[in-house]
Amino acid sequence: MCGIVGAVAQRDVAEILVEGLRRLEYRGYDSAGVAIVHDGQLGRVRRLGKVQALADALNEQPLAGGTGIAHTRWATHGEPSERNAHPHVSGNIAVVHNGIIENHEALREQLKAKGYEFASDTDTEVIAHLVHWHRQHTDSLLAALQATVKELRGAYGTVLMDVNDPSRLVVARSGSPLVIGLGLGENFIASDQLALLPVTRRFLFLEEGDVAEVTRRDIHIFNSDGQPVTRAEQESEVTHDAGDKGEYRHYMLKEIFEQPRAITDTLEGRLSEQGVVVESFGNGARAIFEKVEHIQLIACGTSYHAGMVARYWFEALAGVPCDIEIASEFRYRKSVVRPNSLLITLSQSGETADTLAALRLAKESGYMGTLTICNVPGSSLVRESDLAFMTRAGAEIGVASTKAFTTQLVALLMLVAAVGRCRGNMTEQTEAELVRSLRSLPAHIVSTLALAGDIEQLAEEFADKYHSLFLGRGEQYPIAMEGALKLKEISYIHAEAYAAGELKHGPLALIDADMPIIVVAPNNELLEKLKSNVEEVRARGGILYVFADKQAGFKGDATMRVMSLEHVDEVIAPIVYTVPLQLLSYYVALIKGTDVDQPRNLAKSVTVE
Ligand code: M6R
Repeated sequence: MCGIVGAVAQRDVAEILVEGLRRLEYRGYDSAGVAIVHDGQLGRVRRLGKVQALADALNEQPLAGGTGIAHTRWATHGEPSERNAHPHVSGNIAVVHNGIIENHEALREQLKAKGYEFASDTDTEVIAHLVHWHRQHTDSLLAALQATVKELRGAYGTVLMDVNDPSRLVVARSGSPLVIGLGLGENFIASDQLALLPVTRRFLFLEEGDVAEVTRRDIHIFNSDGQPVTRAEQESEVTHDAGDKGEYRHYMLKEIFEQPRAITDTLEGRLSEQGVVVESFGNGARAIFEKVEHIQLIACGTSYHAGMVARYWFEALAGVPCDIEIASEFRYRKSVVRPNSLLITLSQSGETADTLAALRLAKESGYMGTLTICNVPGSSLVRESDLAFMTRAGAEIGVASTKAFTTQLVALLMLVAAVGRCRGNMTEQTEAELVRSLRSLPAHIVSTLALAGDIEQLAEEFADKYHSLFLGRGEQYPIAMEGALKLKEISYIHAEAYAAGELKHGPLALIDADMPIIVVAPNNELLEKLKSNVEEVRARGGILYVFADKQAGFKGDATMRVMSLEHVDEVIAPIVYTVPLQLLSYYVALIKGTDVDQPRNLAKSVTVE
């Protein structure tokens, strides 16, 4: 969602700020702005639309100066417009903010009563006025911010500067991440380390409740009790530079094709000859896995689909009862914690507000431990969980999650093996077979990617459609759901997914020649059942697109197009069959001319609820 970049330096920082914003574009936004202090004056430029529009405006009206803040806004309070774009200003104070101030209405009334006038409809503007107010009654900008945060309810990552004192920026973090980037004689701030990789690889990650003052040479951090604290310096582990699409037209396509590499990296060093290295999940993992009697998975969106697949695996392969729930439901529901239950969060970003809130709730609720499977080192979920397993997908820029999903599935399958063995429910032989299947995965994905040209042609048949239905059975049902989510997300075609056995309980009424039916059909024990479901659709005039194991015996004709995939072990089939569905949604979106990497209304990292 919104993005923040800040800098305090001796050189002009406008270019650094704008480049930082470009690197955060993938998060989703509707307007962008920058404010820089120079010679005791505040220069501010804001634009509705893309960062490029802001860059063009800055070319015409350059801003000099070494202290500045910049922002991409994803509207929550107030329409997307220039007047609602950040930075917001109150007298000599300028602010950028990610998150939502829940008590903004009450604060707005109090501030109006003090004589403040509001220039925007945003919740953020109350921060600017509150800090301005407190600055007049405190001896520093930092003290003014510390007084302000005591009055704020909600989530914020915020950075402020004072035109009268450009030597420092002050920042506060509560519910919305911020990192401080360490330079030589200059320092930086951002909501995501990706924004700062061109200027530094050394970071301090602020923790919940931290307030900090950042000058060119010093950083002073205080915790929520106002006590000075230190945060360990960390070298960035981001190895794949997000800024480069390489030969690909879109990040999404690049990321789909990166999957063999991403999976290889995720497996690297975590498999022995025979099995999964349990310690890959953290030092205390074995003790927890030996005792675990129930798994509770929590996630949102695509990560939720990964969890749904894992539920099938945990119960069938590891013999451990498993439940999966959407984080936004779990966090507001009174649930019963099973004995010796391990809570596992799944998240690409590690910052999804609902998932983070669910984790925090769970930590108070009596789970035996918490584990996160995540793609972003140093993210909130990673720092706040007892155990963490990092997928190594590399930075995922396309809003539609692809390589993060397949690497989550790889991590989950490894976890199933680790838990199954620690519980004594999986034989050495089964684990060894599972490890062999995992090792074969990158090569199978490479073969599946070779279907891209055929799928591109197939996509033409979808481009004029308004509705579609995805079908699967068993652990392919969540893969059908994931295929439907991908298609609706980037092509805006309405897509639903059903467990194929449910067809006759309602959706059969929808079948006609205008609604393509996409079927995922590996060669497994449910194949014959699935074939019966396919016949139910054909008998009612439906047009079918079947992604099937080449040994599954589907024959194409006028009402059924068949895409053959090479045979793969049943256990890894959900991962392999994800790939053609990703390609299908990509090529349909390409034909429809939608914004593939930044689809309308969506954000990459959903840091507000
Ligand atoms: O970062 P997370 O995995 O926690 O994000 C969860 C969802 O917001 C995310 O998967 C979303 O559904 C994607 N846009 C799907 O492609």
